[in-house]
Amino acid sequence: MLKSILITGANAGLGKESAKQLAQQDGVEKIYLGCRNLEKAKLARRELERETGKSIFEILLIDVSDLDSVREAVATLPEPVEGLVMNAGGTGGKKFHDKTKDGVTQIFAANLLGHVALTEELLKAKKLTKTALYAGSEAARGVKEMGMKRPDLKTSSVDEFASICSGVFFGKTSDATVPYGPIKYMAALWMSSIARQHPDIRFITMSPGATTGTEGFNTLSPVKQYVMKGMMKVMLWLGKVHKLEVGAERYVDGLFNKSYKSGGFYASQSGLTGPIGDQAMLFADLDNETFQDNANEAIHRFIK
Ligand SMILES: NC(=O)c1ccc[n+]([C@@H]2O[C@H](COP(=O)([O-])OP(=O)(O)OC[C@H]3O[C@@H](n4cnc5c(N)ncnc54)[C@H](OP(=O)(O)O)[C@@H]3O)[C@@H](O)[C@H]2O)c1
Repeated sequence: MLKSILITGANAGLGKESAKQLAQQDGVEKIYLGCRNLEKAKLARRELERETGKSIFEILLIDVSDLDSVREAVATLPEPVEGLVMNAGGTGGKKFHDKTKDGVTQIFAANLLGHVALTEELLKAKKLTKTALYAGSEAARGVKEMGMKRPDLKTSSVDEFASICSGVFFGKTSDATVPYGPIKYMAALWMSSIARQHPDIRFITMSPGATTGTEGFNTLSPVKQYVMKGMMKVMLWLGKVHKLEVGAERYVDGLFNKSYKSGGFYASQSGLTGPIGDQAMLFADLDNETFQDNANEAIHRFIK
């Protein structure tokens, strides 16, 4: 049971739908909507209150791509939370490859750097007490159906992981789906590493699977958007992707189902939907503790 849960990126897509589903779970008394835009957050809260009939939603302003904002949010959070859902992110907007003041790409900052800082600041302040769930992606082990290759690292050294953080690994690319998979791969490695450091907390990486009805593709280039949205429609029709409710149910499952082992990365066993399985069975590098710790060390080069 989790009494209180903080969800990042809770005003739209999977974050908002999971807030709705979690509000209906026994024992959940408070849900913090971690959002970067106050107006969008207020609108989401009104909709969630109307749809669930519950007034248990609080807004916590946080831009996960900005470490100052992350630290301020942790300081502002009025009480410890038992659960954390690291959901904000996606393909990172039109300027996904631009650098932040911390020296990482925007897409890296929103998907991973901010969540690493958030988790560690919460733990330091004793404001996270039970379970942390990260929104992974099948892209982390490659998705043939979407033309996404498995991350192909040469050495998996700290330097090589750091080049993923800074974007150097990818050279000049205008395609946000190129860095997306390797960043989600690094996130799963980091989650395994931190799970070993904190055996008292459950760390679960769970992919929502290919989910329609979110706003994720809206930030891609018009051509890529057209291709991806068209592909999703055909794939939904073919039963190869699923609806928003199903994607968010995976978060709920990841938070409450104790059969998932801490540090594990769970996602579709094959393709992008259907039964969930341990992704290390498909991509053994995920289980390599040296790679996990190298990814963790590389990320910390950018957290001052
Ligand atoms: N949809 C899928 O098929 C799929 C599959 C696998 C994994 N995922 C993962 O699931 C998560 C949610 O995806 P989604 O499809 O629901 O995306 P979405 O509909 O685009 O929603 C993304 C949410 O994240 C927020 N966000 C983005 N950058 C942020 C930042 N810097 N600080 C705070 N909030 C930020 C957005 O807020 P604004 O409204 O302010 O932009 C929005 O609320 C992502 O991590 C994604 O990588 C999605």
